[in-house]
Amino acid sequence: MEISIPVGQRRAVLGANGAGKTTLFNMIAGGLPPSEGSITVFGEDMTHFSAEKRARRGVRRTYQRSLVFGRLTVRDNLYIAIRGATGPRLSFWRRVEAEPDHACIGALAAQVDRAHMLDRLASDLSHGEHRQPELGMALAHPPKPLLLDEPAAGLSMRERENLMAMPAALPRDLTLIMIEHDLDIALTVSDVVTVMHNGHLLAECTPAEISTNQEIQDIYMGVEPLLSVSDLHVYYGSSHVLHGVSLATDSAPVSIVWRNGMGKMTRCQAIMGLIPSVRGTVRLGGQDIIGKRAFRVTRAC
Ligand SMILES: Nc1ncnc2c1ncn2[C@@H]1O[C@H](COP(=O)(O)OP(=O)(O)O)[C@@H](O)[C@H]1O
Ligand SMILES: [Mg+2]
Repeated sequence: MEISIPVGQRRAVLGANGAGKTTLFNMIAGGLPPSEGSITVFGEDMTHFSAEKRARRGVRRTYQRSLVFGRLTVRDNLYIAIRGATGPRLSFWRRVEAEPDHACIGALAAQVDRAHMLDRLASDLSHGEHRQPELGMALAHPPKPLLLDEPAAGLSMRERENLMAMPAALPRDLTLIMIEHDLDIALTVSDVVTVMHNGHLLAECTPAEISTNQEIQDIYMGVEPLLSVSDLHVYYGSSHVLHGVSLATDSAPVSIVWRNGMGKMTRCQAIMGLIPSVRGTVRLGGQDIIGKRAFRVTRAC
């Protein structure tokens, strides 16, 4: 894998699940050591630097599943990130609230729209609400390369819009690398798109070229969704309760909305292998799971 990102570029990394996008981030940010090859950031070879040392050099990331300190408030989470980025030790004789860095918390919280949640415990926040403080932590003392791993996952529509607007407000020399399944966000935010497939670099192109590149259309866009259900029929004894239901999703959440008794729970139970009498196609991660028992479906997950 060979990838080179100029200073200040906004780069989106696309690819189906398992393509190696998060692994690439782990290599750049230092979560995992590469088996071979090297990582150079701003001309400095960081291949053998620890993740902490890279973070102090300005390499910051967020994770596909938010990582915040659940037993601390949003304020303390942000404060830890600010202190971690600045380095000098706390003064034993000065109250924490009087530390100069404490004053940065409000601005950072406002930047990620969490000023009203500063005193809430991080563990009390919903999944979507977690994403913003985590982003704030990554933005503490402006990062140089900022790596965001699926930042839109679990966000509401309003939060997605904020996320799309966020890169424009960041310093222009900040290099942003974003893994994102939401094409609207990825293509709006990026100058250049990298497409990965099975651990390889498949293409590097502009957002406009994505829709005209046949290879990407065939391989990436044509990739089977994570979960696809088609023409699903379910019977309770002789009663036929689901009549040819279909759905497909990759990583985006799906809401099934209808009034009671319309088969919402039945559909989920049929997918999970909890109902014996089913007909149709259910594929998960490329495997056919229709008719499989629940423990086998769980293993396939
Ligand atoms: N810690 C790990 N140990 C072994 N295999 C892993 C590990 N993390 C990821 N993988 C495998 O590496 C491949 C790439 O995974 P990942 O980088 O998470 O993909 P993506 O982020 O594109 O969905 C997948 O086949 C995955 O199962
Ligand atoms: Mg990933």
